[in-house]
Amino acid sequence: MINLTPLSTPLKGTIEAPGDKSISHRSIILGALAKGITTVENILLAEDCNRTIECFKRLGVSISYENEKIVIKGEGPILKEPKEPLYFGNSGTTARLMLGVLAGQPFFTSVYGDKYLSKRPMKRVVKPLELMGANIDGRCNGQFLPLSIKASELKSIRYKMPVDSAQVKSAILLASLYTKGNSTVIEEGITRNHTENMLKAFGANVEIKANEITLKSNNLIGANIFVPGDISSAAFFIVAALIVPNSLITIKNVNLNETRTGILTVIKQMGATYEISNRTMVNNEAMGDITIKHQSLFGTVIEGDLIPLLIDELPIIALLATQCEGQTIIRNAEELRVKETDRIKATVQTLNALGAEVIEARDGMIIQGKTSLLGGKVKSFYDHRIAMMAVIASFICENNVLIDELNSINISYPSFLKDLKTLTEH
Ligand code: S3P
Repeated sequence: MINLTPLSTPLKGTIEAPGDKSISHRSIILGALAKGITTVENILLAEDCNRTIECFKRLGVSISYENEKIVIKGEGPILKEPKEPLYFGNSGTTARLMLGVLAGQPFFTSVYGDKYLSKRPMKRVVKPLELMGANIDGRCNGQFLPLSIKASELKSIRYKMPVDSAQVKSAILLASLYTKGNSTVIEEGITRNHTENMLKAFGANVEIKANEITLKSNNLIGANIFVPGDISSAAFFIVAALIVPNSLITIKNVNLNETRTGILTVIKQMGATYEISNRTMVNNEAMGDITIKHQSLFGTVIEGDLIPLLIDELPIIALLATQCEGQTIIRNAEELRVKETDRIKATVQTLNALGAEVIEARDGMIIQGKTSLLGGKVKSFYDHRIAMMAVIASFICENNVLIDELNSINISYPSFLKDLKTLTEH
């Protein structure tokens, strides 16, 4: 058990958010499939992204770390047959995106993940890949890892996604690198568009017409990439600053891609003000500094098209809602049930164990504010975002919070506790 004590000081100062996890994965994948040298600066070296790096090393790609940059020597989209099964660990993004890459290879691969990833749905990716001609088999008819992928010729596809998922969209776009014709993915709600942005940065021709994304050319050329800071990680500091009295912080170089800034929309709905400075663009991604302070907020409704724009931030937003005056309703977020853990259950149980009043719903939750959090015993469910939410919650609890583990934080943010210290110990 780890003992977390309440915070007696405000958060003050400036911090840089770690490299964006989604963009880091994509920089490795496209760098490995491109022809020529790719360099990646500010990449997130956390467990999830390391899984993607390790997979490509096993597929014969040279990836090294030189002068604080990742250097990838890409030799084009056809890789080398791995001698052993590929391990995806806890990483859903590695699993879904690599399936798109592996479907197009002229060799056999088998893939597996940890016990959490092995429970997560893979059919959403396997199905469109099969429609493209992929030969994939596995547990429960290809619904879950472990899976095996046999060589086959892929054909282009026009596919309307039944779930709003950037991972499904990306798997199809990556598999399209191995087809002759143009593939189109149609999304109902907007999902994060980092794959499209990065394909363009590597010289591909991606056409976007309303909600239809078409990959029109598939020659990738090595690129120099800078990974902006992860707004999903910055979210923990944003909420900490909002709920801890007298806090005032700046988070530098945060990715401000509109498909990721749902949390900023929500805090605005709750009545928050914040400042964005030094706006710039890097490799088709918006980036800027966020300055935010403690303030009183009120409850809101979070639903519909906003959900995919903040899906990973919902646990920490739920904590924020416990400190807002009045009710916050989160709905249309059933996707949360198939994340690293069932994040609706995990969030509700964690916050209620600390003294909040949260009601679980099929597709979200209802949070009654404003409640005083008392502290108590919680579990991380071995989910990095639940663990980090519990750490931030402990700041404002009256008594200590006891949590079973914090190692899961290494999945997305190994320096989280150290970075928090720079804001709290001044
Ligand atoms: C991700 C997409 C989202 C998100 C995940 C990362 C990505 O998942 O929750 O953490 O990098 O494409 P879905 O595509 O399943 O919505």
